[in-house]
Amino acid sequence: MCGIVGYIGPRDATPIILNGLKRLEYRGYDSAGLAVLQAGKIEVRRDAGKLSRLTELVQETPVSGSPGIGHTRWATHGAPNARNAHPHLGSTKRVVVVHNGIVENFLELRDELTAEGVKFSSETDTETIVHLVEHHIASGLDLTEAARRTFLQIQGAHGIVLLSADEPDKIVCARIGNAGGVVIGLGEGENFIASDIPAILEHTRRVIFLESRQMAVVTRDTVQVETLDGMAIQPQVHSVAWDAVSAEKGEYRHFMQKEIHEQVRSLTDTLAGRVDFNAGRIRLPELNLTPGLARKIEKIYLTACGTAAYAGMVGKILIEKIARIPCALEIGSEFRYSDPIIDENTIVLAISQSGETADTLAAMEEGRKKGTRLWSIVNAIGSQAMRIADGYISMQTGPEIGVASTKAFTAPLVDLYMLAVLLADLRGGIDEKTRRALVADLRLIPALAGKVLSRDAEIEKIAYTLKDIRDCLYLGRGINMPIAYEGALKLKEISYIHAEGYPAGEMKHGPIALIDENMPVVCLAPKDPWHEKMISQIQQAKARGGMVIAVATEGDELVASLADHVLWVPETPWMLSPVVTVIPLQMLAYHIAAIRGLDVDQPRNLAKSVTVE
Ligand code: G6P
Repeated sequence: MCGIVGYIGPRDATPIILNGLKRLEYRGYDSAGLAVLQAGKIEVRRDAGKLSRLTELVQETPVSGSPGIGHTRWATHGAPNARNAHPHLGSTKRVVVVHNGIVENFLELRDELTAEGVKFSSETDTETIVHLVEHHIASGLDLTEAARRTFLQIQGAHGIVLLSADEPDKIVCARIGNAGGVVIGLGEGENFIASDIPAILEHTRRVIFLESRQMAVVTRDTVQVETLDGMAIQPQVHSVAWDAVSAEKGEYRHFMQKEIHEQVRSLTDTLAGRVDFNAGRIRLPELNLTPGLARKIEKIYLTACGTAAYAGMVGKILIEKIARIPCALEIGSEFRYSDPIIDENTIVLAISQSGETADTLAAMEEGRKKGTRLWSIVNAIGSQAMRIADGYISMQTGPEIGVASTKAFTAPLVDLYMLAVLLADLRGGIDEKTRRALVADLRLIPALAGKVLSRDAEIEKIAYTLKDIRDCLYLGRGINMPIAYEGALKLKEISYIHAEGYPAGEMKHGPIALIDENMPVVCLAPKDPWHEKMISQIQQAKARGGMVIAVATEGDELVASLADHVLWVPETPWMLSPVVTVIPLQMLAYHIAAIRGLDVDQPRNLAKSVTVE
């Protein structure tokens, strides 16, 4: 889950790599480095810490030339220090590598290389790659063939980029398994390589995605793609619609703040082209869903990780309620161990912002193995989860950079709602009036989100009163129960305050023991079918001296009279209410973390896309 950038062409690679890494820093930020071919020699600059440290280093000891490769790291093997930072040079200092993934057989390979006299200068698994390549070059192979031989020797999932001072006209890269993507950006007389599209968007929108077990030899003017076994591939060139501007912070202090406030637009975009308000119908063409298939479906397994899994929990409720199809939500990392009972009438529906989360992809693979149909709801265009699915829904929210997911949570909620209505319609399980009413409700959503966002200053004020808390409990019921989980996740991720989400009805079976004046309790109590139950929950928390922060529907005097603070939301049809109730919780978490002076976009130990299991 590291970020990779490469450049070959007439320009100086250094600023291109630094800029590209800046856009990928969300993928990992323990250390960063670059390697550039300067006057026939590979010059490496790398250090522990964030990218700003690498930028300083390059200012202190400049380097320029082409080709060049760069890396921002999320440590797996070896501490995040300068020695372990990528790129890694081989013993001859003529070959250099950056890598995303884990060489699973690295101990064995390192022992073999050490026995041959190779000296390792880091604790990383990555270093084995460059030594193996050098070993094969020493036996007479060129860079491409030496790289191929190496790719076949290493186990695990990888994105790898290599260059050699002795073959300065090329960069060799490969993708093996699901350690994250390798994207080749096509320019005029220059080419780019990256782990993710945002790194190269300012240069080109024409891209090639490497599939698993494919490698490419990239020169200034050509891109030659082959399988690791040497079979030539005619790659498909994709046009990416995202523009570089949408990956900029603009007037906002943090990407997370920008992305929270983008939700009016992202929700509008999510609906665009999908909803026919006149006919009261939904269209999701990329899902390839026919009435025949819709009628055959007996069960849907939703699978995802992190925030996306909480979207899946809401999705389960929506699909069961609207389409009456039994659903199960299985966390991505558990799916394949649960020996799921699936067949050709089961759908495995993966939800993923990045489309590259290793555990989610592993769940999809398990589904594939068992002969089921795969669907995905994905944000990153061209990502693995999109490509391997039989049908997909694209989130249409544009790039999300902040590590804590916000707009890529609300978009799939709407996608899942639309999917539920479409399934119900195609199965003939919904009367026209109900269908039209459900579709019409979608029209309200962007404006309702906008109403919550306009309360930013109020929410910031409440955040000031909570900035020093040590724990926080979030309670919700029914369709807003997953929002309690998501609210707690947002707070813990970026403010490092211990926070727990709980089904409100379970409070009396344990968490109530924790409630006293030091335990704030966030209660999701909008006007939904569980409103009265939540009122009694608030009363119970108050009776134990807890401070209650309620998410309540505008005008709800009863909740206002009971709670210490209220996060107001506009009245919303209950099946869409999670889209609206989560936003004040995103804003609350954001403000608390920003007031505490924390690095909101790059919280410690986390990464945006987790491409390791
Ligand atoms: C990481 C991110 C989370 C995200 C999760 C799943 O943990 O920090 O924000 O929800 O991965 O990512 P995905 O890209 O599959 O939605």
